[in-house]
Amino acid sequence: MGAKPPLISFNSLLILLASLLPLLRCAAQSDAAPLSGGRPKPAPVKASGISCDFFRGSWIYDEFYPLYDSANCPFIDSEFNCQKYGRPDKLYLKYRWRPSGCELPRFDGGDLLRRWRGKKIMFVGDSISYNQWQSLLCMLHASVPAGSNISAEKKDPLSTISFEDYDVSVAYYRTTYLVDIVTESIGRVLKLNSLSGGSVWLGADVLIFNTWHWWIHMGAASQGWDYIQDGDKILKDMDRLEAFSKGLTTWAKWVDSSIDTSSQNVFFQGISPTHYHGKDWGEPGAKDCSKQTQPLTGSSYPGDSLPQQGVVKNVLSSVTKPVYLLDITLLSQLRKDAHPSLFSGGHPEMDCSHWCVAGLPDTWNQILYAAVNP
Ligand SMILES: *[C@@H]1O[C@H](CO)[C@@H](O)[C@H](O)[C@H]1NC(C)=O
Repeated sequence: MGAKPPLISFNSLLILLASLLPLLRCAAQSDAAPLSGGRPKPAPVKASGISCDFFRGSWIYDEFYPLYDSANCPFIDSEFNCQKYGRPDKLYLKYRWRPSGCELPRFDGGDLLRRWRGKKIMFVGDSISYNQWQSLLCMLHASVPAGSNISAEKKDPLSTISFEDYDVSVAYYRTTYLVDIVTESIGRVLKLNSLSGGSVWLGADVLIFNTWHWWIHMGAASQGWDYIQDGDKILKDMDRLEAFSKGLTTWAKWVDSSIDTSSQNVFFQGISPTHYHGKDWGEPGAKDCSKQTQPLTGSSYPGDSLPQQGVVKNVLSSVTKPVYLLDITLLSQLRKDAHPSLFSGGHPEMDCSHWCVAGLPDTWNQILYAAVNP
């Protein structure tokens, strides 16, 4: 976007100013004295603006974490509620993400609700989106006074929680592939070139999309479809990375044709990693994430890079409208300790894919908060 000459208008001046502010903030904070009494209010940042690289950094211990007590959050699904389901350790709750070049603004839920008055935020995607949605609900719930008017509405596939006193709603739309699955005479067909759920999504001011994990589910029962349609070809199966790329491209074209970026901010959540092979993080004896109680130190992950990350970057580079990639992969790869493992009320087997709430998704939301200004 930066390469295009801006239209000379009041709006573009504001956007330009907003995009410069984070640079100033980074510069000011890198040599600032230790702050007492809270950090400066986060400056308004347009999602498309220039910004610090929030996605390079490391995890540091912070005695003031977590941001809320999961026991007091009424929204956490049993599958993410690790403390409730017997996780014995708590150290994993006490890490703060520290970008190398700047400080993440401290999360201020009251500020978010006031700035987002009248807005609808919507997470669209699979259970990893559901995971991040629940974390944001807990972060906001912890910031509002007791007795605030919070209402809930569920009309599958859409669940909406509204903070009525602030006129802010935070919704989750469940879709595993973003593109359609249609039941036809031959069975359920995953349509790589068709996306019809989008009309509901257009009602939101801030949209955070995600899809990946289902693209590698194998077998009709697990994957949720019997055939895959690519153009006019109906196939029994195909290379899954290629299918992912085609489906995501359909979504990218939808963004370009349907989103009004003067009023809507679009994010893509990025690839959330799993931890099922200790050799990926330099511990060949570990067969999964169980008994992991601390993150990896430092800023790099020993495992191979993920080809699906390349697909995401490639497809996003084809979108003309501004889409902000929440590039959470590396910072999440370092958190082998942050999965439910066996301490989940929803998954009887080892879960090293989802994340405990409170926990890692709170950091994804801190970055979302820093990056958005609807
Ligand atoms: C909560 O908000 C809704 C919608 O604005 C309103 O209808 C309802 O009366 C409110 N409830 C309370 C207890 O204030």
